[in-house]
Amino acid sequence: MKVAGQHYRTIYPVQDGAAVEVIDQTRLPHEFATVRLSRLDDAVRAIADMIVRGAPLIGATGAYGMALALRADATTAALEEARRRLVAARPTAVNLRWAVDEVLSAVAPLPVAERAAAAFQCAAELCDEDVASCASIGEYGKQILGELAKQHPGRPINVLTHCNAGWLATVDYGTALAPIYKAHDAGIAVHVWVDETRPRNQGASLTAWELGQHGVPHTAIADNAGGHLMQHGRVDVCIVGSDRTTARGDVCNKVGTYLKALAAHDCGVPFYAALTGPTIDWEIDDGLAQIPIEERGADEVRWVRGRTAQGAVVSVDILPASSQAANPAFDVTPARLVTGLITERGVCPATAEGLRRLYPEK
Ligand code: MRU
Repeated sequence: MKVAGQHYRTIYPVQDGAAVEVIDQTRLPHEFATVRLSRLDDAVRAIADMIVRGAPLIGATGAYGMALALRADATTAALEEARRRLVAARPTAVNLRWAVDEVLSAVAPLPVAERAAAAFQCAAELCDEDVASCASIGEYGKQILGELAKQHPGRPINVLTHCNAGWLATVDYGTALAPIYKAHDAGIAVHVWVDETRPRNQGASLTAWELGQHGVPHTAIADNAGGHLMQHGRVDVCIVGSDRTTARGDVCNKVGTYLKALAAHDCGVPFYAALTGPTIDWEIDDGLAQIPIEERGADEVRWVRGRTAQGAVVSVDILPASSQAANPAFDVTPARLVTGLITERGVCPATAEGLRRLYPEK
């Protein structure tokens, strides 16, 4: 993805592989800044504080976090402690556990002296795989948008998305936004309704920003507006990301996704989740019962960050002082509300059979 004409990935090695840099997503859209991660602590903090976020990017950061930990101490005890701390940083996106375990199994059989270099190599490969997978999701999803464009000639296809499942949530391209970028680049006219995504506003701050960087027409909407737009025929398709998808096709994603799926179901609007293979948790079937939903701090609901007319970036308190706030960060959309899953291996129904057809080795 290009930022002001320069190509970036969201995470990349620096200092001859001694450290990695990431984009500080807490400062967008008002400031584009990168942060250097040199130690395990830095990686844990970047994930927990959402300097990086989005399931695939959390996974990539976890993988590099293992490598950074091993550079300081490559003993088996240190390896296990790094795994424990990274996996605990955010509980819902399964990519984190998957990526950390990939590094663990790659380096555990090696002599201690070889582990750190092997971990960096493994993390780099996982990042390259994520880029290739997201590009492939883009191609499959572009076909869906192309079919819709044929059904509605002479006007843009209106896509509604929730949270940020774009380039910033992955290493490059994105999941839900990859089809939009590929369609836009292929000359298919697309317009995106961007849910603001309270409380952290990943839609308003991140999705709107990256769509703007790429020149994709979009309109930010309050989270509550999507149902109304769908009732009035102003949404052709919803495409969202996923933080964990069960083996039966339930989709856990940013809180509020379920309400969009209900509205889409009621209005006959197709509802797709786009995800890479590592987002599928093959060990579980029932998303509602089995996926741990992260509860984040109440301050994220109370305090809203933005820029004043004078240009200062400030946080303001929007609640009565005596009010409590609760902050469940994800919800589960049952598979029956999902039209299809767009993966790097193709599009399948959100069913056990559909997923197994694409991933027979599982
Ligand atoms: O809390 P976040 O910002 O990490 O949540 C991200 C989402 O819910 C995304 O929609 C999801 O990770 C898909 S990312 C490709």
